[in-house]
Amino acid sequence: MSNLPQPHCLAPAFGGGPAPPPLSSAAGGGQPVRDRKIASAEQLVLDLCEPDLRENALGELSKKREIFQDLAPLLWNAYGTIAALLQEIVSIYPFLSPPTLSPGASNRVCNALALLQCVASHPDTRILFLNAHIPLYLYPFLNTTSKTKPFEYLRLTSLGVIGALVKVDDTEVISFLLQTEIIPLCLRTMEMGSELSKTVATFIVQKILLDDVGLRYICATAERFYAVGQVLGSMVTSLAEQPSARLLKHIIRCYLRLSEHPRACGSLNNCLPNMLKDGSFNNYIDDPTTRHWLQQLLHNVGGINRVANLQGGLDHIIGS
Ligand code: TRP
Repeated sequence: MSNLPQPHCLAPAFGGGPAPPPLSSAAGGGQPVRDRKIASAEQLVLDLCEPDLRENALGELSKKREIFQDLAPLLWNAYGTIAALLQEIVSIYPFLSPPTLSPGASNRVCNALALLQCVASHPDTRILFLNAHIPLYLYPFLNTTSKTKPFEYLRLTSLGVIGALVKVDDTEVISFLLQTEIIPLCLRTMEMGSELSKTVATFIVQKILLDDVGLRYICATAERFYAVGQVLGSMVTSLAEQPSARLLKHIIRCYLRLSEHPRACGSLNNCLPNMLKDGSFNNYIDDPTTRHWLQQLLHNVGGINRVANLQGGLDHIIGS
């Protein structure tokens, strides 16, 4: 226990609630309950290193991770905790291929992933998490293709960790992820995942595209651009059968960002799905932001059209 931060480090977790009563009035109940919760978080973190207690600790901590706001530094700094979480992760690698992961084992690892997401989200541990290259341990989960619940849940939770990293705009995070080839993994989920995991994967690609380094990376070769464009296009097609306003919003934002790159904008002229141009989705784009993005996208791509038409017209006139 001596190597753990003192209990007060967890106190800000309760900062979101009502202010604690002044000491003089020492209102009955509140304080002791709070202390008990704090103590149990620390005990549970210690329990992660005990093989027999680990499963329970994973479940309890991931359930309460919102309440313990400074859980991330505690997890990061407590002796052996991150190693224990990584051990959980690698222990299921043998069940990925052929796909034989049981629901129970998937659930247990997802709890470990939820704790890593907490570390990935916290401003004091995010860069440490990245520098330790922990995202790489999740990539085998993103590389799976089984559509069963245990695998779907595993992909979704892993994407949640990456999503937490990219949520804060930081070009260092984007550069790291690009270098580790996250894009093909996201594209894979965008092709075959559930609506929810498609949405998270598309959100990650969107955040990467919104970064200048990310946009340049994806537009650096025709192969990359077309790989992304093709997956976005097939998602649009499948939305016609299974509408999802939130997924459509992220897809449109991705296209809009691509249209800000001159060469990509020229290519979108050919490969932007007609369904985005012909108003097929008008009925279910209620969100004014999505509407605006779509208009902007069509404007950007249409602008190229006009230039191309003008060019074509001139070519005709000057006979080249
Ligand atoms: N090594 C591949 C590349 O750099 C990674 C990749 C595959 C990729 N598909 C992609 C990158 C699609 C961007 C977009 O091209």
